[in-house]
Parts: sequence; C-alpha cells; structure tokens
Amino acid sequence: MTLKSYFRDVRIGVIGGTGLYSLDGLKFVEEVTVETPWGLPSGAITIAETPDGNRIAFLARHGPAHHVLPSEVNYRANIAALKAVGVQVILAFSAVGSLREEIQPGDFVLIDQIIDRTKGVRGDSFFTGTGVTAYASFGEPVSRALRSLVAQRSDSVPNITVHSSGTAVCMEGPAFSTRAESNLYRSWGADVINMTCIPESKLAREAEITYAIVCMATDYDAWRESEESVTVAEVMKTMKVNAANAKALLLAVLPDIEQAVYNDPEMALTKPEAGSMQYAFQ
Ligand code: ADE
Repeated sequence: MTLKSYFRDVRIGVIGGTGLYSLDGLKFVEEVTVETPWGLPSGAITIAETPDGNRIAFLARHGPAHHVLPSEVNYRANIAALKAVGVQVILAFSAVGSLREEIQPGDFVLIDQIIDRTKGVRGDSFFTGTGVTAYASFGEPVSRALRSLVAQRSDSVPNITVHSSGTAVCMEGPAFSTRAESNLYRSWGADVINMTCIPESKLAREAEITYAIVCMATDYDAWRESEESVTVAEVMKTMKVNAANAKALLLAVLPDIEQAVYNDPEMALTKPEAGSMQYAFQ
C-alpha cells in the first residue's frame, strides 16, 4: 500500500479496546499494514468509508485476536501508524473498572484527567533517544472539544449512560488491583481504572493528534466489600454489551466529528492545542 494515497484523506482514527475489534455499519475499503520507525502496530489498520463518503482508520489496540497485553502494546507504533495514514483526530475506546458506585458496569465515561500508575516499562515518548529535547503540555490530557462533541451526541444513543467527565487511573497490569490499591485510588479522587490510556494519550499529544477516549465500565474493580473482586469472566460478559453500545455511539458521533474535521474552516478540532509541544533546542 502507498501511504501517500491516504495522506490528507483519512483524518479520523478509531482505536478499539477490549471487545471492540472491528467496525460494523461502515463500508470496508481495505486493510493496510504500516511499518513505523518504532516497529509494527498491533495489527493492520482497517480503512472504512462512512455514509458521508469519508474514510476513517480503525486499529484494534490489542490486535485483531486480542493477543497483545496492555503492557506489551507498541503504543508508539500504533500512534505513528495512524499518523502516517493522515489521522488528525483519534477517538479511542477502552474497558475500565469503576471506582464509584454511580458508575455502573455498562456505563461510559468521557474522562478528562488521568493519573499515571504505569511502571516506566512502556515506550512512552517519540523523542526518546532522538537527541531532540522536547516537552509536551499535558495538564489537559484529553481534547475538551472532542469530548464535548461525543457527550452531546451520546444523548441520542438509546440505552447508554454517559458520564461527561472523570479521572482515570492507568495501571500496569496484567493483574488487577488489590483492594487496598483500589481504595487508595478512590481516595485520590479517581473514578475509573484501566491499563492503556497511558502512554496512548501522551503519544497522541506528542504527535499533535487530537485525542479523546471513551471509557466503558465493565466491573467495580476491587474496592467494593459487598462484591467479589473483578474477574476476567465478568469483564468479558459486560464487554459484549459495551461493544455493541460503543459501535452505536461511534456511528452516531462520526458525522459530527467529520463535520468538524472536514468542513470547519477554523479547524478548531484538529488545531494542535496552543503550546502543546515545546522544543527546548532546535
Ligand atoms: N479494565 C477493565 N476492568 C479493569 C479493572 N478493574 N482494572 C484495570 N483495568 C481494567
């Protein structure tokens, strides 16, 4: 495949998490394999056409058969591959545990803040080893504009509850948290927990890609004394329903994102956030 055939054409990327391995309701165009300077992404990128005639890129974060563990995802290759096909805006999806009674399994949360509890084992910067001294502002790790587009449109999707803000903890895994850790995160004000939004969101910022992530609650993690701690079976069961709802939400919101990306002369959604990348020496 030739990357140049997509560049400036495919502007919207979707990253699917646990349970979301493909797109329905969009016309399949082709699969493209992109090799990046950081290696191969989790799988081929699917190019699909929307009813409005635009092409979007889809990548399953854990690979098409969920064979890549959260700690082993090549996040740099994933983001670089999407950037290479021209993506300027990423809407990501991720399974999360809930740290709050009011966020029930099945609910979606449009997080606006992240606490990083990964352990430094993931390649988390495009600048590592390059000799370029660069810093990224990350006080607002998620695009406010993209989040609010999704939040507004979610009202039209039946049978889902969408919380329009929240703080996620990103942990290393693959073991889930202990009850003490789960309670600690609650005391920090966190609302949900997952294993993937770091460094994905950081790398999107470095790549100057607008990024938001829809967190789909599958379980109550380990803090609730009245419940069994989270199990894989529980996560997978809720995930099936969540995946169907995620696809419905995506189809509902895509026209709004397309409108903002292709037809807004101000390019409000795709303009890099002011001062988000700063180079100390050039
Ligand atoms: N993904 C889904 N549920 C989770 C949990 N409880 N902790 C971390 N990641 C998760």
